[in-house]
Amino acid sequence: MDEPQHEHQPVLVEPVLRLLDPRAGQVILDGTVGLGGHACALLPRILPGGRYIGLDLDEVMLGEARVRLGTAPPGSVELVQANFAALPEVLARLGFEQVDHILLDLGVNSAQLADRTRGFSFEQDGPLDMRYDRRSERRALDLVNALPEAELADIFYYNGQELASRKIAKRICQVRHAGRITTTLALARAVESAYAALGERRGGRIHPATRVFQALRIAINDELNNLRAFLDGVVAHLRPGGKLAVISFHSLEDGIVKDFVRAAKAAGTMDDLTRRPISADPQERTANPRSRSAKLRVAQRLGA
Ligand SMILES: C[S@@+](CC[C@H](N)C(=O)[O-])C[C@H]1O[C@@H](n2cnc3c(N)ncnc32)[C@H](O)[C@@H]1O
Repeated sequence: MDEPQHEHQPVLVEPVLRLLDPRAGQVILDGTVGLGGHACALLPRILPGGRYIGLDLDEVMLGEARVRLGTAPPGSVELVQANFAALPEVLARLGFEQVDHILLDLGVNSAQLADRTRGFSFEQDGPLDMRYDRRSERRALDLVNALPEAELADIFYYNGQELASRKIAKRICQVRHAGRITTTLALARAVESAYAALGERRGGRIHPATRVFQALRIAINDELNNLRAFLDGVVAHLRPGGKLAVISFHSLEDGIVKDFVRAAKAAGTMDDLTRRPISADPQERTANPRSRSAKLRVAQRLGA
């Protein structure tokens, strides 16, 4: 691959650069390198002499990042297919104990959404897959077709804050009784029909399948537990003065990050550099609709 295959506009680049303020020779760990958008903005700041370590669960995204970062000086970039929840093991394997800055830009990216074969989007038909890491065995269709009704409803309620979770789970179980639900559009249709039975009022402004798709994606990729596991180990791997930046896209993630920063501040291990999370400004919100729900929190490691 010579050219990057997808356009990608990274979110909140200016505040990430300003608050991390990386310097030549420093080491950055990007736990969600994706298409390399933030990497392209941050890497020049740590040259010469710096190292940029980019992780992603998705080997397709790593391939794109590799192309985008192809002109970086030899030895300055290391891309690894790994879960950011395994940060301590990944750093140990690469011979680092601590780094200067860590960035997470959570969730799914525009290229994954646009690829119908990945099954992340209800706007086009594809296999109901939703795995970031295609080496893992379980796909979203395995949950949708096998879980008991009550467990499906819990996933929709707790991971998607879907108030019609029980009605939707019931409808899915009726539909799958007649034949397995294996595609994105088949699932979207089942959710739409559950909503239709509830009347227009409950649909709101977003597509009725939005929260169900988010909930299944979070469940199949264990997103909230990965974030918790990462935060549990992160402080020990930041140098004193080093900074952690996390961009989240829904209140479940942001709540976990907020609680972590509050607890670290109370324990005297981190200082909170963003008492209120930073959101995109009006220009960015217009230019990049994905930025509208983005929230950035940054904390700094204390200690000598
Ligand atoms: C929003 S995108 C990041 C975009 C990137 N900052 C850029 O500018 O191109 C999030 C990425 O995180 C990856 N991802 C999600 N969960 C992960 C995890 N637990 N460990 C590593 N990568 C993960 C996804 O595959 C996706 O490529």
